[in-house]
Amino acid sequence: MIEPRPEVRALPAYRPGRPSGVAADAMQNLAANENPWGPSPRAVAAWRAWDGGSTYPDMAGQMLKEVLEKRWGVPPAALLLGTGSGHLIKCLSEAYLRPGDRVATVHPTFSLYAHGARLMGAEVAAMPGTGASVDWGALAGWVARHRPRLVFLCTPNNPTGDVAPRAAIEAVLAALGDEGLLVLDEAYRDFAAAPPDTVSLAARHPHVALLRTLSKVYGLAGLRVGALVADPSVIDAVGRVREPFAVSAPALAMGRAAVEDEAHRQWVVEAVQAGRARLEAALAERGWAVNPSQGNFAWAAPPAGDAERWQRDLMARGILVRWGGSFGVKDRLRITVGTSAQEHLLLAALDAVAASRREKQAGGGPVG
Ligand SMILES: Cc1ncc(COP(=O)(O)O)c(C=O)c1O
Repeated sequence: MIEPRPEVRALPAYRPGRPSGVAADAMQNLAANENPWGPSPRAVAAWRAWDGGSTYPDMAGQMLKEVLEKRWGVPPAALLLGTGSGHLIKCLSEAYLRPGDRVATVHPTFSLYAHGARLMGAEVAAMPGTGASVDWGALAGWVARHRPRLVFLCTPNNPTGDVAPRAAIEAVLAALGDEGLLVLDEAYRDFAAAPPDTVSLAARHPHVALLRTLSKVYGLAGLRVGALVADPSVIDAVGRVREPFAVSAPALAMGRAAVEDEAHRQWVVEAVQAGRARLEAALAERGWAVNPSQGNFAWAAPPAGDAERWQRDLMARGILVRWGGSFGVKDRLRITVGTSAQEHLLLAALDAVAASRREKQAGGGPVG
């Protein structure tokens, strides 16, 4: 057997919301923060019309960058496309981290920031928190103390759902040395009510980068398209690391059509915001502690704190949700906002599990 690098041996494997081998339609998957309505019909039509495959895609993805420029106000020189934003997290880590460097982030948050750091032999300084929400105001002090090379902030944060206020972002930036880069992962930005204008911040500041994705609001998680928005010097460095033809030709074509369909994006945003409000209210009515979320998911603790058991009981009824234990928060679940049909199934399953527990308790049997 050939031994991998020690950093690689120590890496935890990524665990997807839907376990491998379980068909996408076998369960109601509310564990992966996908868009349950899917992409714009225009994107589906672009996929059907695509007939290539023997030639390499445009390496820069210029046609997609042009529509992203219109949508986000970011010039193509400040954009780099990747095979999902998860891929770009790894590329950023490879481009900037040296063994012994430090990466600052918060707890709990998306696992790939720590993964990229560990891959490169860097240390992770995750600011501790309650697990329910993030104390953004404390972050600048944390960054000043740890002198990180990279800071990864997820906003809205996965899994807590809260948005980093502009003042906290600017304070982190002020605390970051000249050798540091602040990366704001905005995978769920579209679902937030009033997120701060980060594009203008990145345009003014070479030490700020943004990560965005077509996986969530545009419903293209299966295609793998993400984007880095940054100063051209950062785009150049990360572009040298990224493999040359990272985004496939059909993904570029479908991505372009999806981004052009602004009406569909708005429709998805409204559906998520309304569904999130209903889901959070329904959970609160059932006695769950809910941290108000700005993402396409709820972050909630069942009344008795037995979140892992809830996850198992819901799975037995065909509904996948994410146990907070995978984020180091054992008493919470992260539940993706689904279609209204999925919402009804979820609430029926929650009530059925609660009723079966009450019956067992009344009968003096084991609670399960
Ligand atoms: C915060 C965050 N960033 C990035 C990603 C990865 O997105 P992509 O599909 O673009 O790799 C996810 C996926 O769930 C996420 O939650």
